[in-house]
Amino acid sequence: MSRRRMIYEGKAKILYEGPEPGTLIQYFKDDATAFNAEKKAVLDGKGVLNNRISEFLMTRLSAVGIPNHFIKRLNMREQLIKKVEIIPLEVIVRNVAAGTMSKRLGIPEGETLPRAIVEFCYKKDELGDPLVSEEHIAAFGWASQQEMDDIVSLALRINDFMSGLFSAVGIRLIDFKLEFGRHFEGEMVRTILADEISPDSCRLWDYETNEKLDKDRFRRDLGGVTEAYAEVARRLGIIKESAQGGDVIDFTSGMK
Ligand code: TYD
Repeated sequence: MSRRRMIYEGKAKILYEGPEPGTLIQYFKDDATAFNAEKKAVLDGKGVLNNRISEFLMTRLSAVGIPNHFIKRLNMREQLIKKVEIIPLEVIVRNVAAGTMSKRLGIPEGETLPRAIVEFCYKKDELGDPLVSEEHIAAFGWASQQEMDDIVSLALRINDFMSGLFSAVGIRLIDFKLEFGRHFEGEMVRTILADEISPDSCRLWDYETNEKLDKDRFRRDLGGVTEAYAEVARRLGIIKESAQGGDVIDFTSGMK
C-alpha cells in the first residue's frame, strides 16, 4: 500500500487523497455493518463487487446526464472520484414498502407504494441517522432550498433510470439510499451524486421469487451475501454469465 494520505475512514470505504487537486481515491473494504454498526462482519469479496457495481451504475447515470463524482476505476478495490463537500443527508427513494418505512407506518413489506417517495435522514451516526423534514434541513442550514429541489429531482430521475435498468435483468428496485455533494467548479457550485450505489445501499428483489439480493441478507442473517451481490453483478453483465456464487472466490482472489 502506498504512503498516500488517508482523508477519512468510514464503515465500508476509505477515502485517500487523489493524484490531482480536486480528486480523491475511494477504496471499498470488505467490512459490513448494520444497525448503526452494532452488527459487524468481514465479507470476502464484497468490496470488489461493490466497486464494480457502483462503477457500472455511476457510468450509466453519467451517460443519461446525471452528474456524479465518479471519474474512473483504478483497480479491483479503488476508484478515482471528484472531491465534493458532502451534504449531511441520506436521501432515500422508495418504490415498495420495506425496512423502517414498514415498521414506522405499518405498511406490509412488499406493498407497492402509490408513487415513489423521497425521504431525508440527517447523516449523524451518533443519532442513528434520524428521519427529518425539509423544514429541519432549511432551518438548520444543512442544505439550501435550491439544493433540496435539485436533490429531489435528481433522486427521482435516478430512480426512474435504475428501476428500468434493474427490471430489465429481473430485479425489482425496492428502495435505495443516495448521498449528494457540492462540487466547486470555479465560481460555480453544483449538486452532484456522490458516495456509492451498490447492494449495500439498495434493496433488490428477484422479480419472480422475491429473493433478496442485497444487504438485508446480512442484516437478517440469511447467508449467501456476497453470492447475492455476485448475482446482481452477473445479471448486469459486469461479471461473466457463468459465474455463480462459488466463483466469487476465484473472481476476487489475488485482488485484495
Ligand atoms: P431503511 O428502510 O430506512 O433502513 P434500514 O436499512 O435500516 O431498514 O433503508 C432504506 C434503504 O436505504 C435501504 O435500501 C437501505 C438504505 N440505507 C442505507 O444504505 N444506509 C442508511 O444509513 C440508511 C438509513 C438506509
